[in-house]
Amino acid sequence: MASGKKNLAIGVFDSGLGGLTVVKEIMKQLPNEDVVYFGDTARVPYGTKSRESIIRFSKQNISILLKHNVKMIVVACNSSTSHALPVLRRTFRLPIVGVIVPGARKAVRSTRNRIVGVIATPATIKSSAYEKEITKADPGIKVIAQACPLFVPLVEEGWFDQKVTHEIAQEYLNKLKSWGVDTLILGCTHYPLLKPVIGKVMGSQVALIDSAQEVAQEVARLLVETGLSRTARRTARYRFLVSDEPKHFQKAAKQFLGFDIEHVTRCPV
Ligand code: DGL
Repeated sequence: MASGKKNLAIGVFDSGLGGLTVVKEIMKQLPNEDVVYFGDTARVPYGTKSRESIIRFSKQNISILLKHNVKMIVVACNSSTSHALPVLRRTFRLPIVGVIVPGARKAVRSTRNRIVGVIATPATIKSSAYEKEITKADPGIKVIAQACPLFVPLVEEGWFDQKVTHEIAQEYLNKLKSWGVDTLILGCTHYPLLKPVIGKVMGSQVALIDSAQEVAQEVARLLVETGLSRTARRTARYRFLVSDEPKHFQKAAKQFLGFDIEHVTRCPV
């Protein structure tokens, strides 16, 4: 492996802001790696779109990241991963990591009573991607799935702890609760920001699975396996690209990353 390739960035894309939860973990676990992030803010949300559109958008997003010299792709969007990952892996010749398998594996390790809940966008729920991965690992696990389409706009609006957020969470989660799930997969990039509300509704005995940490571990493992870990010694560089106007992204990014980002580049699709 040419050392030049090792020093390229990790490309991460999501339909918008949410994938920054994954970027944050990559920054923490792989502080030596450069990251280029593309948020498709002009076409968000993906979670209510058709499989065909999600696949088309995902291919275009990778083509954009490839122009910015990346060595690996992280599909940080659950809706994209659940519909497009196999097609993307067949289309592009570089390692591609998705978010479903790491989250599903963590849930399988976590459950004691073998009743697992999954909450996600309508597109992810429709794909049954989490159920398939969980039952592949352990066919005895019962999976209860619930689409929560109003959670994404609530997070985008910064309504993490409003009365209406609690009421909507109760409405969505009561059924899962009544099934007695002991593990709940937060199967959407935005949901980790609603952890306090979701945790309150489900109760402290239910483990909430946020796949970002597992995804970063999978990226680390794959970098070593493919000989692509970065060797250059300098502070990592982070670049942020969006397909619509950068202002809202720049402002809202702080909620996800915990710090301000100085520069966001508009990159139309
Ligand atoms: N990034 C999406 C996901 O994880 C959530 C936002 C959207 O619907 O585009 O499924």
